Amino acid sequence: MQYPELVESIVKSVVGAVKIPVTLKTRTGWDPDNRNGLEIAKIAERNGIQCLAVHGRTRACMYKGNAEYHTIREIKEAISIPVIANGDIRTPQQAKEVLEFTNADGLMIGRGAQGRPWIFREVDHFLRTGHILAPPEKEEVRSILLEHVANLHQLYGDVMGPRIARKHVGWYLEDQDTDRSFRKLFNGIESGEVQIETLNGYFDQI
Ligand SMILES: Cc1cc2nc3c(=O)[nH]c(=O)nc-3n(C[C@H](O)[C@H](O)[C@H](O)COP(=O)(O)O)c2cc1C
Repeated sequence: MQYPELVESIVKSVVGAVKIPVTLKTRTGWDPDNRNGLEIAKIAERNGIQCLAVHGRTRACMYKGNAEYHTIREIKEAISIPVIANGDIRTPQQAKEVLEFTNADGLMIGRGAQGRPWIFREVDHFLRTGHILAPPEKEEVRSILLEHVANLHQLYGDVMGPRIARKHVGWYLEDQDTDRSFRKLFNGIESGEVQIETLNGYFDQI
């Protein structure tokens, strides 16, 4: 974002090189004094980007402070391609507020979905009905988590699968395993099969 001419040249090259639609993800600027997200958005649109996602922080802000949605709103107002708002959306109410404030065409949810993949149906339900959907029951959480972990084992294999599963299990259980004792035990397990058995045992006893 510090080099808009370079952005333009990269976007042009990529869009020219492929037959599929190209989308772009950006932040609101390089740092708070150089919030040039709007300029980048216009470059994107002018050069054939089909959809733009914007994280409401600058590069220098990393993950500090709160995301701001003013710049996303400005970008949405200024360009005609779909704009996806992103940053710090963790509840259905926030999702609605951000959609209304920015007038964005969609939302991107990152960390709010870690260990809570049902957030998308919760947001959808709230947007459609104005009511909060009840959280999933224990047995549904068990089944979602076990399927997720089994898929990770299959995708990443016997060594990396169980390792990658650890961080996801950590996110799923962070609210209930408050003394971290289960996660400590779980993180010592190397085998995928034993991970599944141990998770089943955990859900049996809670
Ligand atoms: C584990 C993780 C991986 C990410 N990887 C990428 C990435 O590859 N490219 C990218 O543009 N942003 C990446 N991000 C940033 C997110 O897309 C998003 O912009 C940021 O987390 C703010 O949204 P959130 O508050 O909903 O998490 C990543 C974020 C997380 C937490």
